[in-house]
Amino acid sequence: MRNKDFISIHDLTIEEINRIFELTKEMKSNPKKFSNSLEGKILALIFEKPSLRTRVSFEVGIRQLGGDAIYLAPSDIQMGKRESVYDVGKTLERMVDAIMIRTFAHKIVLELARAVKIPVINGLTDLLHPCQAMADYFTMIEKKGDLKKLKVVFIGDGNNVCHSLMFGAAKLGVNFWAVTPKGYEPKREIYQLAIEDAKLTGAKINIINDPTEGIKDADVVYTDVWASMGQEAEAEIRKKIFQPYQVNQELFSLAKPDAIFMHCLPAHRGEEVTDDVIDSPNSVVFEEAENRLHVQKAIMYELMKDR
Ligand code: CP
Ligand code: NVA
Repeated sequence: MRNKDFISIHDLTIEEINRIFELTKEMKSNPKKFSNSLEGKILALIFEKPSLRTRVSFEVGIRQLGGDAIYLAPSDIQMGKRESVYDVGKTLERMVDAIMIRTFAHKIVLELARAVKIPVINGLTDLLHPCQAMADYFTMIEKKGDLKKLKVVFIGDGNNVCHSLMFGAAKLGVNFWAVTPKGYEPKREIYQLAIEDAKLTGAKINIINDPTEGIKDADVVYTDVWASMGQEAEAEIRKKIFQPYQVNQELFSLAKPDAIFMHCLPAHRGEEVTDDVIDSPNSVVFEEAENRLHVQKAIMYELMKDR
């Protein structure tokens, strides 16, 4: 990869994205071939927010490649409080080979990446969740084939997951719809950048507020929690505002009959999605979760193999 870091899908070329997908496919079907490919490499995992999938998939992933991981909990290093982001980075780069970070402000990841010579991987910020979107598009290819033929609908909050899916759609030529309540649309600056990429690939990026119009004839229906980590205080008010955007059987039936349902998880069952949809045969949420492991192994390999 041209870049030292993996911070946003917007930074990648289409060739780099496709290379990651090809490698993911190979690693998923033949994991043994890569079992020593990052031998002796150590990945530091900085978590300032909770996690199940991201933590487990990175820890298992680096071990499956022959390396190891160190988990640093929010209370351990207290980045920015106990010491500066810069000092944390400069210390870690003396001891580990790469850093994965999950934090609040996106600028913390940028600052850390600037400070260190080793690769930095974005494991979620308030703005973006690029590893998730890479696993999601890989899952869509597995399930549906040609991404350029798909109507992909993200319904709910125009959040970090929505932003990364939008960036991915723009790079991959997808017909992407973000369907949100008024005032909860994806950020303007993300949309503007996506539109620039879309001009090169023929992707269509739509943002609307009407859930029934948005979901009509969708091939992929994707949702996420209405209040993300850090927005807990807004959860009650958001429940009322987002109710018409709940992916229940009635709304989901407006998508194509063979549409797949996706969710990055964790899901708040009974809020953004009902059990009858997330547990239906159309739901691929656990395959999607598994693909976090495979796609991140490919990302780590690409970033760390020659270092
Ligand atoms: N989807 C996802 O990133 O899950 P975690 O928050 O459990 O890591
Ligand atoms: N939008 C959610 C995603 C969790 C994986 C959050 O940021 O909490």
